[in-house]
Amino acid sequence: MSSILETFEAMHQGSRRLAERARRVFPSGVTHDIRAFAPWPIYVERAAGARKWDVDGNEYVDYIGGHGALLLGHNRAEVVEAAQEALGRGTHFGSSHEAELEWGEQVIAMVPCGERVRFTSSGTEATMMALRLARAFTGRERVVKLVEHFHGWHDLVVGRLREDEAHPYSVGVPSGFYDSLTIVPSGDEAALREALAPRDVAAVIVEPTGAHWGTHPLAPLYLQFASEACRETGTLFVMDEVITGFRMAPGGAQERYGVRCDLSTHAKILAGGLPGGCVTGREDVITMLEIRDDGEWNSTRRVTHQGTFNATPVSAAAGTAALRLIARGGETERADAATARLVRGLNSLFGELSVPGSAWAVSSMWHLNLGYEAPRPTDVEWDASEEPQGVPERLVAPLKWALFNHGVDLMNTGGMVSSAHGDEEIDQTVEAFRAAVGDLRAAGLLD
Ligand SMILES: Cc1ncc(COP(=O)(O)O)c(C=O)c1O
Repeated sequence: MSSILETFEAMHQGSRRLAERARRVFPSGVTHDIRAFAPWPIYVERAAGARKWDVDGNEYVDYIGGHGALLLGHNRAEVVEAAQEALGRGTHFGSSHEAELEWGEQVIAMVPCGERVRFTSSGTEATMMALRLARAFTGRERVVKLVEHFHGWHDLVVGRLREDEAHPYSVGVPSGFYDSLTIVPSGDEAALREALAPRDVAAVIVEPTGAHWGTHPLAPLYLQFASEACRETGTLFVMDEVITGFRMAPGGAQERYGVRCDLSTHAKILAGGLPGGCVTGREDVITMLEIRDDGEWNSTRRVTHQGTFNATPVSAAAGTAALRLIARGGETERADAATARLVRGLNSLFGELSVPGSAWAVSSMWHLNLGYEAPRPTDVEWDASEEPQGVPERLVAPLKWALFNHGVDLMNTGGMVSSAHGDEEIDQTVEAFRAAVGDLRAAGLLD
């Protein structure tokens, strides 16, 4: 292990210097929990297509993809041009503008449930808005979420990370928030039926491919069940498509799986790699935001919403350009095909080297099991009856160091693939894994 770490340290001295400075500025030296990394995170200078380069001149095949925002890869020319053109005309008019209208029309054209849209600045704000709308519309307060499903960091959705966890995910959330939150096991139809039976639930919110972008897979049949169960009990079904939206199909998971939802929340790909989010869905629900010529409605029924950076011109222009490319077709297919090639390549490598582990994917999101005799998917998607166990904590950092050393940057222990990932990047990644497995074995960390 020391040689894996020593190599990482030797290759990343520029990043070390910046990380030392950052520790004097940011808690843990980072601006997002997920970027905290020992001994220090890499500092990236530039990116293009499926690759990025750090301050020490190391090149990586990138599987973080802007935390999932970059289905089209880094710096896709059409998106950059649209953003630059908008930037030249002004970053913020403090007024309505045509670009936001085009962006909203594009969302409605692509998302199956979309009848009206409200833009926010992030996915966190989008899920907060969706749940507030659901509560206002139904007159009910309770929200049901699934164990470990992630919907951003606002107070309404933080919950226990695991069923056996006594504490909420975040200290600092008033305990009263939990009074109106019910957390049910993911994929458990009976538990959801029971939670909805009193007919006091405003909304059920889910990550369509399962908790943490599918690390814990969720059967599409469960989505159908949840959608139906919501309809029968007057509950709104909210698909949180912040990750899956515009990725799994131009219309997201709801299109790919043919599942009906009342509202869906979006961000990431929505804004073409710039900040932005939205809630879209049923007109009668979203018009709870409508300002009417009715004082009583405005003061007692209406949901209010502000936000300085909602639908700013540059995000609107970049987002519209990205969505139009995706709507044209081919981007989803290219990213999915590259992911399938990677998963098959990794599973065949693991077979060849007798590595205990497996890879699997949904659409262009892939995950890894390592360090135990994990089932391999028949093809690409997880189809074993047992839950994948992932990568044990003791292996996570050494695996990531080893892959950094061989030119690959993972998102957690898997990744997001873009339409810019070609055969060359995929084959290079499989070879990087071959080298990393050798390093882990030499360090006595892997059988
Ligand atoms: C499913 C899901 N919902 C909501 C969010 C929050 O989005 P944002 O980071 O834009 O606030 C995320 C972020 O990763 C997410 O994965």
